[in-house]
Amino acid sequence: MSINRSALEYAPSHAHEKPEIRREQEDATREIIAILDRIEQNRSELGRGRTADVFFYDDPERRYSKICAKLIIRREEGYSNDALEEMELLDDARQNGVRVPHPICSYKDQEGKEFLIMETINGPSIDDILKHRVEMPKALRDPKKLQTFLDQAEQEMEKLHEEARIHHRDFHSGNLMVGIDEETREAEPVIIDLGTAKKGWGDDEETYTDVDPRGKTTFYPKDKDSFNQTRADLIKFFTKNQNEWSE
Ligand SMILES: Nc1ncnc2c1ncn2[C@@H]1O[C@H](COP(=O)(O)OP(=O)(O)O)[C@@H](O)[C@H]1O
Ligand SMILES: [Mg+2]
Repeated sequence: MSINRSALEYAPSHAHEKPEIRREQEDATREIIAILDRIEQNRSELGRGRTADVFFYDDPERRYSKICAKLIIRREEGYSNDALEEMELLDDARQNGVRVPHPICSYKDQEGKEFLIMETINGPSIDDILKHRVEMPKALRDPKKLQTFLDQAEQEMEKLHEEARIHHRDFHSGNLMVGIDEETREAEPVIIDLGTAKKGWGDDEETYTDVDPRGKTTFYPKDKDSFNQTRADLIKFFTKNQNEWSE
């Protein structure tokens, strides 16, 4: 179990009051395992991707009401990041001011069970919207606001590249979420899923290619190309459906 020490705002409330780091870590671990048990029992699904299922934590005491667990169940060994690597990349991105879910802890046991506990993003992914699984959020039903959202999403991607030196490499519409602010109801773009991301200095071939130990090469789509596709798809979707939204 690895705990992200910058996540104290989500961590068990008493954990950081203890002087002995070890005890603190053990208590937090016990509490997080109890949280995970409950997540596994309830199986309230938030989303499903290629490698993982993501479950919401329905907190009986409403103490940590905004966390979720990504259970990595279909990870391809050698290709994607494990839960700890993904947590570290999320933390790195956050430290560089990129809006990604706040990671809390990661876990990996000897049987290969892996999960990542993180902040739940309040809103749908762009893919959920395009596939009509979720209604277009009200905050985006205006051409100017949609444009602002897309510009901000592009800026977040640039920050990820230039400040954090991270390339996402799987930046399709399912990995861009619309975070809805609970108070203002405004939309903000949130980049998720750093499961295939890699530290890199530029969008060159080296960053976008992996060679596994057996010599097999994998090529990844450039983030800029993936984002341009999402932008075009969302604008097309908007144009096609906007009449339905005007009362
Ligand atoms: N922090 C989060 N908050 C809310 N929903 C999430 C969060 N992380 C992931 N999801 C949902 O779960 C889906 C799968 O998660 P993701 O990290 O993309 O896994 P995969 O590596 O399998 O693609 C996402 O497309 C999204 O719908
Ligand atoms: Mg994904």
